[in-house]
Amino acid sequence: MNRLPDGFLVAIEGLDGAGKTTLAQALVERLEKEGFLVLLTRQPGGTSFGEKIRRLLHDAEKRPVPLAEYLLFAADRAEHMETTVLPALREGKIVISDRMSDSSLAYQGYGSGVDKDFIGLVNAKALQGRKADLTIYVRLAPEAVQTRIGARGKEKTSFEREHGLFFARVAEGFDMLYREPRSNLCVLDAMLAPTVLAEQAYAALDALLHKQLHESRDR
Ligand code: TYD
Repeated sequence: MNRLPDGFLVAIEGLDGAGKTTLAQALVERLEKEGFLVLLTRQPGGTSFGEKIRRLLHDAEKRPVPLAEYLLFAADRAEHMETTVLPALREGKIVISDRMSDSSLAYQGYGSGVDKDFIGLVNAKALQGRKADLTIYVRLAPEAVQTRIGARGKEKTSFEREHGLFFARVAEGFDMLYREPRSNLCVLDAMLAPTVLAEQAYAALDALLHKQLHESRDR
């Protein structure tokens, strides 16, 4: 088993319908094959309390006011971090989170106008200062969101019923957040085939994991 002393936290971000969930599952399979301990989880959700918040938000006929909505995501995040993510990281696991704090900056900050500095402060508190070791941004054009969601054939959530302008603002938010290249960021094109996406994401992850494994052996 490959155990990482401080664990390794991966956040997968992007617009609705970008293919994050399929990618997350592919990464888990590959990592387990390579002998890593992995936890796949998501925000909102990932705890029984969080799943209730998730349902509350998804099933809302009308979205609550932006601040109330953000605070619900933040409550989910705080519970998820304390009870699920941090314990798994302490066990040396790779935690893959289908969305994390940047979704709030993009959706509630850029999309709905909640103060981004406030979101940044509360997010940091909810995550107890821990940041993702790698963020994978699956970049999809906002115009493609409705087609992708429609193809799922499922009932739409309160977010998925949003208009194109909202998704354009969210997409701009993600693009702003990830405009500067950095070693712990991997930007992928959502139009690529799922197998190619998984290959590219795994290559980025593998490089960082090996670096961390080497560093921990040298300690
Ligand atoms: P989900 O069904 O997980 O969508 P997806 O499969 O695209 O991730 O629903 C999560 C929805 O919640 C999604 O529309 C994005 C939104 N969201 C926010 O608005 N803010 C947040 O902080 C998070 C985590 C999600």
